[in-house]
Amino acid sequence: MAEKARIAILISGRGSNMAALVYAAKSSDCPYEIVLVASNVPDAPGLTLAQAEQIDIFAHPHKGLSREAHDTIMHDAIVRSGAEYVVLAGYMRILSDGFVRKWADHMLNIHPSLLPKYKGLDTYQRAIDAGDKVAGCSVHLVTAELDDGPVLAQTEVAILPDDDAETLASRILIAEHQLYPSALARYVTREADPDWILEQIRQRALALQETHERASFGAPGWRVGSQTTGKYFAYFAQSHHGEASVALLVKTTGLDEQAALIDVDPDLYYAPKFYGKSGWIAIRLDTGRTDWGHIAERLYKSWCQVAPKRLTRLIDIADQF
Ligand code: GRF
Repeated sequence: MAEKARIAILISGRGSNMAALVYAAKSSDCPYEIVLVASNVPDAPGLTLAQAEQIDIFAHPHKGLSREAHDTIMHDAIVRSGAEYVVLAGYMRILSDGFVRKWADHMLNIHPSLLPKYKGLDTYQRAIDAGDKVAGCSVHLVTAELDDGPVLAQTEVAILPDDDAETLASRILIAEHQLYPSALARYVTREADPDWILEQIRQRALALQETHERASFGAPGWRVGSQTTGKYFAYFAQSHHGEASVALLVKTTGLDEQAALIDVDPDLYYAPKFYGKSGWIAIRLDTGRTDWGHIAERLYKSWCQVAPKRLTRLIDIADQF
């Protein structure tokens, strides 16, 4: 199994979600391990449990410190632990923009409502008062706005006729304990999920000027130019075109560049079966170390190879300066 993703959990209290994550991580096929539990509350009950489970703990009260200063202390402890992801589990602090930026796309939270409904506190009573038939919980990425980042997973929980905030909260908590470990597992392994990879390619290909998507012999492909005369500059191969791996096919400047790339990194590049002779290159996307900046650059270079002159002329002029 690939190396496990390293997780730091931040808590402020009871830590029942933390416990769910800690026990999920004990399973040998779990794709993450918990390397740190940290808190702004030194006597948070969750810390005692983490320690008993032989997980490193760290606590630093926020009292008397600016938000930025406290976040920096927490950030440094997380970095020292070697964690790659921060998982908030009842961490009752608003985070500074700087901290959120440092952990962008690497920080998750669980919230007891079906986001985007009922951000903030008192979610159960608000759902009951609104006459909702279902409440629930959401796992989302953390962005600068409170409870506002992209939702990764949700579980609906029925509201019973005589529910009050407390009874509803207790059932939602059971759902949280199921949802968080599985959503985290899916997120940390997303780079191995062909659908996720395809979406990354799609976004970058369609961000280029005058592009559209069109399947070619079952493989997703992207063309530049009009719907009628457009030319392909990229294909996504997943057992298509005789390819065994998940790969992006893009055009190089010719056979020389193709050979040079394969020479530099034969684990990353290969000549694609059907397009190899015309100078296309395959870039593997299933190595677990995809450099998305590099992918965007190769898509752009390929686009430049086939885009109509009227689109590349301005770029050629700019290149002269
Ligand atoms: C949970 O209800 C969670 O949704 C919210 O804070 C609570 C934390 O509970 N973010 P616990 O500390 O995990 O038991």
